[in-house]
Amino acid sequence: MMLEELSRPGSICGEKQMPEFQKKTVRIKNPGRVEEIICGLIKGGASKLQIITDFDMTLSKFLHNGKRCSTCHNVIDNCKLITEECRKKLLQIRNTYYPIEVDPTISTEEKYPFMVEWWTKAHNLLIEQGIQKEKLAAVVRESDLILRDGYELFFDKLNERNIPVFIFSAGIGDVLEEVITQGGVFHSNVKVVSNFMDFDEKGVLKGFKGELIHIYNKHDGALRSSEYFNKLKDNSNIILLGDSLGDLSMADGVQNIESILKIGFLNDKVEESLEKYMDSYDIVLVGEETLDLVNAILQKIL
Ligand code: TMP
Ligand code: MG
Repeated sequence: MMLEELSRPGSICGEKQMPEFQKKTVRIKNPGRVEEIICGLIKGGASKLQIITDFDMTLSKFLHNGKRCSTCHNVIDNCKLITEECRKKLLQIRNTYYPIEVDPTISTEEKYPFMVEWWTKAHNLLIEQGIQKEKLAAVVRESDLILRDGYELFFDKLNERNIPVFIFSAGIGDVLEEVITQGGVFHSNVKVVSNFMDFDEKGVLKGFKGELIHIYNKHDGALRSSEYFNKLKDNSNIILLGDSLGDLSMADGVQNIESILKIGFLNDKVEESLEKYMDSYDIVLVGEETLDLVNAILQKIL
């Protein structure tokens, strides 16, 4: 297709070009703007593109066969390595803080201190459990953390075309890397920034490395990653994937953005949060458990 044709309204996201856009899971506030952004991404091609993505509930599934799936933290919460008493405490704090995380009536500023509390309490409980590094692979293998359908195509295509992928997660980096390793997609173009476990010389968990990352301080984390982003000065076109409104600040470390397409998975509290998500993300995917739309867009660009 000629570039002039691409800039005609409806030409890119129309039924013929990308049927994935016709699914009822796809919500777009400003289709003209989305066309414009995708057109910019296509023009820039592979050499200008980079991906910045969240992990839990973005690359991983929220539901599988109607059942809730695990986050990185839940993989540990539900495993054999921790005591029943600790599991109960973790469940208790999750039941306290998760409803705050997804409550659309509470502002980000108000949520912020509660998220710090949640992460701090959870990590302290995990540290008390003497978790062994060598057991993590088995724990991940037995878990119900499942990557979204289409993840192989997503990662393989991006690797094939040498597109940098920045996974920016408030989850647990060691679990995350084990998941993508077991999925066969931890390619050399993937960089993970997350909360990494710190083990003692016997391989027993003694803490977490670096600054804590929770869902609402990704702005600070993005700025700390300036060394990474500075090396990618020419990659001024971005596809950002997230599921929380906090994920929208993941590209704050990029200085010269030409085109950015923000795609948000809205998994929970859908009715109450939809308007806010549609105001904030260019494309909102409601109750969508696949990466089909993202892959269709990549297919057009690459
Ligand atoms: P993400 O940045 O990769 O999405 O990871 C953050 C998710 O982790 C967030 O949705 C909440 C979740 N979480 C748990 O499930 N259990 C916990 O104990 C903590 C601290 C976070
Ligand atoms: Mg997430």
